Amino acid sequence: TEFTCRICCLGAGYVGGPTMTVIAKMCPDIKVTVCDLSERRIAAWNSKSLPIYEPGLQEIVEGARGKNLFFSTDIDAAVREADIIFVSVNTPTKKSGIGAGQAADLQYWELAGRHIASIAEGPKIIVEKSTVPVKTAAAMARVLESNSKFAFEVLSNPEFLAEGTAVEDLLRPDRVLVGGEQTPAGLAAIDKLANIYRRWVPTEKVLTTNLWSAELSKLTANAFLAQRISSINSISALCENTGADVDEVAHAIGVDSRIGPKFLRASVGFGGSCFQKDILNLVYLCRSFGLPEVANYWEAVITMNNWQKQRFAEKMVSAMFNTVSGKKIAVLGFAFKKDTGDTRETPAIHVCEQMIKEGAALSIYDPKVTVEQMNYDLGSPSPDKVCMEQDAYVACAGAHAIAVLTEWDEFKTLDYSRIYTSMVKPCFVFDGRNILDHAKLRQIGFQVFAIGKSFSNETVLD
Ligand code: NAD
Ligand code: UDX
Repeated sequence: TEFTCRICCLGAGYVGGPTMTVIAKMCPDIKVTVCDLSERRIAAWNSKSLPIYEPGLQEIVEGARGKNLFFSTDIDAAVREADIIFVSVNTPTKKSGIGAGQAADLQYWELAGRHIASIAEGPKIIVEKSTVPVKTAAAMARVLESNSKFAFEVLSNPEFLAEGTAVEDLLRPDRVLVGGEQTPAGLAAIDKLANIYRRWVPTEKVLTTNLWSAELSKLTANAFLAQRISSINSISALCENTGADVDEVAHAIGVDSRIGPKFLRASVGFGGSCFQKDILNLVYLCRSFGLPEVANYWEAVITMNNWQKQRFAEKMVSAMFNTVSGKKIAVLGFAFKKDTGDTRETPAIHVCEQMIKEGAALSIYDPKVTVEQMNYDLGSPSPDKVCMEQDAYVACAGAHAIAVLTEWDEFKTLDYSRIYTSMVKPCFVFDGRNILDHAKLRQIGFQVFAIGKSFSNETVLD
């Protein structure tokens, strides 16, 4: 078949993989090649067990792979033939040097740019898919210009998908954002990319802006979303002290159409690879532009989140008579949210580490996170301190307490009477996601602690 356009994407991660898969599905006439430096990752994309879990993804990959969707480590070949090159490499928080702990580490991003310039044999459109600081596209344009004789247009096309719902978000996005230079060549490039999305996204939802607006909108969207969670979590602490119920408060404010009902679930804290990283990035940008008040304002969202995670761990210890030493604690859920195996920045890491420090023995169950990943995240703890189970009932047997740290649906329908019988009394439940039926658990005999609920009805047993 003759393809009408060739696209390549550098970075076959949580964003590059699903995004390109959906483009391939919706545009059979476009050849899409997803590249990565990691041979292991590419091999997994070409196998039966994909490197990431997303509901619905496997089917779409299998439908397009080998037809117009290819996964390859041959970056040079893919770049040479592509008209449009997406760069979706990782942009983590810098670990050392200037801006360590806050600024985005742009080394992978710039290396990808230099590599494209060194092998391109004609003009290309470069699409910034990674989340980057404002003005990064300009830096990329300069790197490309100084290293190649061809013309490159750099576009900003930030990705708004959330993990666990990536396919749905990509098929029916609230909006697609394409930013570019407001020159004839820039506008033409914007149009070319926007037209690809317009094949399945209604035109009014494909927004086009200048470069800086697109870059800043991505950081702003994540900052606003995380801010809502920290806001409701801050109120959850007040609820626990006053007898108000945070779910009732969230509902009562969420029906106000100006506030809206989404992203108001109080929790043990937000996790994931994006929120903290992107807010720190925004904070760093504000400081470097001489705006400390703006920086402090957004930084408080992270301070509140750290406090919420710590507060949860402290509540566990204090409820269990101020010591968890030698006690077995069952941890249900380790991923940063349900329907993903991703553990980046998951609040479970913080809570588990605190419990290990307090001398507790943990048995952890998560339906999608691998044992290797949990071991890695917890710094390879000794097996007598932490064991990973394949079954929630096994994890809970013989435990003093259960901590629910991810909102997996399957935790709602476990047989808690059976679990109660297998546990050490008094049995504690710490529901970090407010997903369980607390009244029923209390009826069974559990001491229940939840986020943003009053504990006054929990009597310490004799
Ligand atoms: P990831 O770590 O899962 O994937 C990045 C991949 O890029 C890795 O597999 C890495 O090997 C590869 N890579 C690095 N340098 C390369 C190069 N020069 N050539 C080819 N491949 C290279 O990261 P991710 O979660 O997919 O995130 C990618 C970007 O998208 C980040 O900037 C992130 O902030 C942003 N983002 C992520 C999400 C999300 O939900 N994960 C959502 C929106 C935006
Ligand atoms: C987020 C943004 O939603 C997405 O638009 C962006 O592209 C990437 O970052 P993601 O991190 O994948 O997506 O998941 P999200 O659903 O936003 O959840 C992030 C964290 O917040 C999770 O730990 C989740 O459990 C927590 N959360 C979310 C709450 O605690 N309460 C809520 O009401 C919503």
